[in-house]
This record gives sequence, structure tokens and C-alpha cells, in this order.
Amino acid sequence: MPGFKGLFVPGPTNMPFRIRQAMDVALEDHRAPDFPEFVRPLLADLKKIFQTTTGQVIIFPSSGTGGWESAITNTLSVGDTVLASVYGQFCYLWVELCKRFGLNVDTIEAEWGTGVPLDRYRARLEADKTHKIKAVLVTHNETATGVTSDVAAVRRILDDLKHPALLFVDGVSSIAAIDFRMDEWGVDVAVTGSQKGFMMPTGLAILCVSEKALKAAETAKLPRGFFDYKDMMKSNAQGYFPYTPAATLLRGLRASVDMLLEEGLPNVFARHHRLAGAVRAAVHAWGLTCCAAAPQWYSDTVTAVVVPKGIAANEVIKTAYNRYDLSLGGGLNKVAGKVFRIGHLGWLNEIMVLQALGGVELAMRDTGIAFEPGSGVGAAVRHLSRADESMRVAAE
Ligand SMILES: Cc1ncc(COP(=O)(O)O)c(C=O)c1O
Repeated sequence: MPGFKGLFVPGPTNMPFRIRQAMDVALEDHRAPDFPEFVRPLLADLKKIFQTTTGQVIIFPSSGTGGWESAITNTLSVGDTVLASVYGQFCYLWVELCKRFGLNVDTIEAEWGTGVPLDRYRARLEADKTHKIKAVLVTHNETATGVTSDVAAVRRILDDLKHPALLFVDGVSSIAAIDFRMDEWGVDVAVTGSQKGFMMPTGLAILCVSEKALKAAETAKLPRGFFDYKDMMKSNAQGYFPYTPAATLLRGLRASVDMLLEEGLPNVFARHHRLAGAVRAAVHAWGLTCCAAAPQWYSDTVTAVVVPKGIAANEVIKTAYNRYDLSLGGGLNKVAGKVFRIGHLGWLNEIMVLQALGGVELAMRDTGIAFEPGSGVGAAVRHLSRADESMRVAAE
């Protein structure tokens, strides 16, 4: 069909023309004498995105999964215990990866649609008097269910109990879109990828590592090669990489970081919050519910919409794609067939969100879901329109 295809999966996201153009360059000499003049400021500016002054940014040619792997192999040893909770597919996959590396994973199963179970984390950590737990894992934004968790609260628990475990955070679908504070929250390894908040193609694992994690790396015994932080930092200190870097992607990342900093991080977060609010307003107007069980868990980057009983969510997704060129996210694992996901992150504005919601309405109507056509789009328009906004302010 002519016209733009709608990309509303929760990553990869829509890529700004500025980033595409930044990558439309001749391949370059990554050992050139002036390459450090490009690399050093990029690493320094990325710290601003992680909201850190003390953390070390590390970029691998990889994806978020490689970032997870690096967190494990650089800081832990076979048989180490880590505390994790599973409330969605990405939590689950991280736990499985830990097991592959011979870690002993103390896994707490939580309801899908909720987030990190703080009380149960506290209980486990409190009982761990000998500090067997070496790392605590939190998926900041569970992309499978559209749930954001309270990382700061996990830090408070660790501090209250004076527990020395490292804090690992999967920020793959939060960082650069939802507020994430490396230093304030005392995060030890934060992991993200290039294809979500950074609005880039897939291909980079972007990490931030604390001094404490780097100290742990000195004694951690898991074998590591390609993902060795020490090798990377040694070369980065000179403005280079230990192997051929994905220089074209780095050029795109430069443009991405510039765009994020020009908009201003607080504005980026506020924009995501506003647009997410419009999506949620639409879901409620349709008479449907979010998979996120309560507002405290609502994600500003992705909404998983629960379809009515008797409807296959995959039919909505297939119809949206086949008839309307609209890509939505599918349900994964426990919520497969029960939800479809609307990604609302990255390079996005009001009109694009309305386009997605209009497309969802078309697909839902074709699939036989009963709702008032236009109700979701109307609710979103009311949520987003400046006129309604000023009326709301005047009425307050
Ligand atoms: C929360 C979360 N963690 C990890 C991953 C895995 O990242 P990648 O697909 O970049 O390896 C994803 C991917 O969507 C994700 O959403």
C-alpha cells in the first residue's frame, strides 16, 4: 500500500531523518589520529543520558541481550547467587541467561502485569545474613507487559539493609525515554540497546557501569572475551576500541544523543508520559484494560492491551499488518494471544500516536471487538489537545 508503514512495536522504533542522514557517510578509518576527537565527547555525553558522573559508559556492537551477558560475565563467578523476579518475558530471558552461565538464581515469580516485588526482595535480602546474594536484577521496563518498576525503591531496600549486592538494571525499553538515574539510584550495571529510546537501528549494546561493578570485575571469574569491560575501557581511554567498532552506528548515536540533549531529558520524559497517557485514555475509552495491573505500573513506552475473552489478540495484530500496514507488538509467553502491544517510544509525536490508535481501531473493528468507533481516538485527542489542556488548567 502507498504511504508510510506504521511502526508501533516497542522497538525498533521510528528513526529520525537526522539520524539516518548522520549514518549516510563513507566508511571511516577507526584508527585515524582524529577518531578520538569523535569518540571521547560521545562517551562523555552518553553519561548525561544515564544521569551519571561516576559511571563508565561502554558500547558494544551487540544488542540488549549482549549487554545482559556482559553484566553477568564481568562481575560474577560460577555458583554466585543472584536475586531476580519474573514478571514478564524479558525478566524470564535474563534469568535463563544467568542460569546458562552457571549462576544460582533465586527467582521470585510475580504476577505478569505487576512489577518488581519489593516486599519479597526485602524479605530475601533480609534473610541473607551472609551476603550470598551477589547481584539483584531488576527489569526497569518490562516490555512484554508494559510495566515500569521502581528501581529507586530497590536501592532503598539494599541501603536500609546495608546489603552489598550489585544492582543490575535492564533499561532496554526505558533508558532515553523514561526517567532513569544511574547515580541517584545507585545502579551498578545499566543495560540498554540502540533500537528503542535512542531511535537507532539495532546493533549497539549501550551500558553504564559503576565503580563498584568495575571493582567486582577484578575478582569475578566467569570467562569473558569479546565483552570484557577492561579491554574496552583501556582502548576507550585512548579514544579507540579494542576491535573494529560499528563506526557508522556510532555516527548515528552521536546524532541521537544530540537530539535527546537538545530536547532536554526532562522534556523527553514528559513527552513520553503525555503520549502514553493518550494511549491509555484510548484503551479505557474502548472499554478494554491494560495488562499493567494498576496505574503505578503503567509504562510510558509500551502499552499491552488485553483483548476481550473469545478474541485472539494475534488476529488484531495480523489484521493491522495485512490490511493497514500497521505493526503492533504481539503477546509473549504467558500473555501470548491475550494482548497486543502498542509501542509509543522514540521519535514520536501526537499525530503519530493518533495514527496508531486509528489503525488499532480499524483492526479491532475488523476482528470483531465491540467498541464505539472513534472512541479511543477521541479520548486521545481530548488528552492531547492544547485547547483541552488549557481548559483543564483553567478548571483546576
Ligand atoms: C526489556 C528488554 N530487555 C531486553 C531485551 C533484549 O534486547 P535485544 O533484543 O536488543 O537483545 C528487550 C528487547 O526487546 C527488552 O525489551
